[in-house]
Amino acid sequence: MDEVMPERRFSPREVTASAQNVPNLSNTTMSGDGLVTLSDIHSTYDIFKTYPSDYYHKTPLLSGAECLFKIKGNTRLYLKLENTQVTGSFKVRGVINQFRNIPSGYGTNEHHLVSMSAGNYGKAFAYIASKLGLKGTIIMPDTAPDNREILIKSYGIVVERLPTAQLMTGINRHCTEDGMLFLHPYDDVNIIAGHGTIGLEILEELPEPDIVLVSCGGGGVLSGIAAAIRLSGREKCRIYGVEPEGSCTMYESFKAGHPIERPVKSVAAGLSPPFAGAICYNHCKMYVDDILLVTDPEILSSMMCLYHTGLVVEPSGAAAFAALLFGKVPNVDDKKVVVVITGGNVSPDELLHYSKSAAHLDVQTGR
Ligand SMILES: Cc1ncc(COP(=O)(O)O)c(C=O)c1O
Repeated sequence: MDEVMPERRFSPREVTASAQNVPNLSNTTMSGDGLVTLSDIHSTYDIFKTYPSDYYHKTPLLSGAECLFKIKGNTRLYLKLENTQVTGSFKVRGVINQFRNIPSGYGTNEHHLVSMSAGNYGKAFAYIASKLGLKGTIIMPDTAPDNREILIKSYGIVVERLPTAQLMTGINRHCTEDGMLFLHPYDDVNIIAGHGTIGLEILEELPEPDIVLVSCGGGGVLSGIAAAIRLSGREKCRIYGVEPEGSCTMYESFKAGHPIERPVKSVAAGLSPPFAGAICYNHCKMYVDDILLVTDPEILSSMMCLYHTGLVVEPSGAAAFAALLFGKVPNVDDKKVVVVITGGNVSPDELLHYSKSAAHLDVQTGR
C-alpha cells in the first residue's frame, strides 16, 4: 500500500487545549490501484471511536421508517440520520481524517490550507479546524448564502467568493502563487475513508441491507459508503448514487466512461459541484450499481415530506430519499432499503421558502 500523505504533524500537544483529548494517530493509505481499502476504513473508524462526541458521533439508523411514508411495495425502510451528525452533516468524518493527514508545517496560518465549499464541507472544515487550533481559507461560490459565510468566518477561517466556474482557478492561484495546500472537499482518499465509516455503521446495525441509496455531489460520500459495504462482502446489496437532473456530473461521467465537467444547476447546492471527482469516479465505477436522477421538485417535496415527520433535512440531504419516494429505484418490493439522509443544514427562512415552492409543485409525495 502506498502512503498518500506525509506524516501528520498536529499531535494534541501542538494544538489547542480544547483538542488535547484527541488521539494522535497514523495515516490513511490506499491500495496500489488508488482505491481505499477496507482496512483503511476500519482503522479510520477505530480512530473515530476514540474521538470526543463533539468531533464525531455514531448516528442513528432509524428502522421501521416505512410506517411514516406511503412507499409502494412491502419495503422496509431505514434512515441513516447524518443530519444529526456534528455540524449537521456527514462532512466532519472526512474532514477529521483529512486534517489527521496534513503535512508538517501546514495549518498554523490562514495562508497554508485552502479549500472550496458551498456550505457543509466549509462548515465542517471551519468547526474542526477551530477545535484543533488550525487556520485556513475557504473559497465559496458567489451563489452560496451569506449565513454560511458568516458561520465559517466565525470559526476564524478566511472566506473568499468566486463564481462557481472559477473556483478551481482561485484554488490553483493560491497553490502556485502563495504555496497553499489544497484540501479537496471530496476527491481525496482520506475524505473517502472517513465517509466510509457511515457504511460500517450501517452494517453494524443492519448486516444485510438489500439496497443503499446515497446522494451524490462530487462523489466522496457515495464512494466511501459503497467501498465499505462492497469490500465487507455484501456483493448482492445494490448501491445507488442519486443526483439532481440539473447537476448530474457522476451520471454523465458513467455514460462517458470517464469523469466529466459540466454546467450545473439545482436547488441542492451540495450536489452541484461542476465536476465529478476522478478518484471518486474510480470508486463509484468499481462499487456502485448505478446513478439515479431526481428533479428539483421531487427533492423539495421529499424534503417537506421528511419535515412533516419531524426530520429537518436540507435539499442535498433529501435527494436519495426522493429517489425512493418517486419510484426511481428498481425492484424495492420486500427489500430492506437504507436511505442515507446526508445533511440537515437549512435555516428557518430557507425552510419557509422551500415549503412555499414545494406547495406550488404538482407532485405526489405519497402522504
Ligand atoms: C448534505 C449533502 N449531501 C451530499 C453531499 C454530496 O457529497 P459528495 O460531494 O461527497 O458527493 C453534500 C456535499 O456537499 C452535502 O452537503
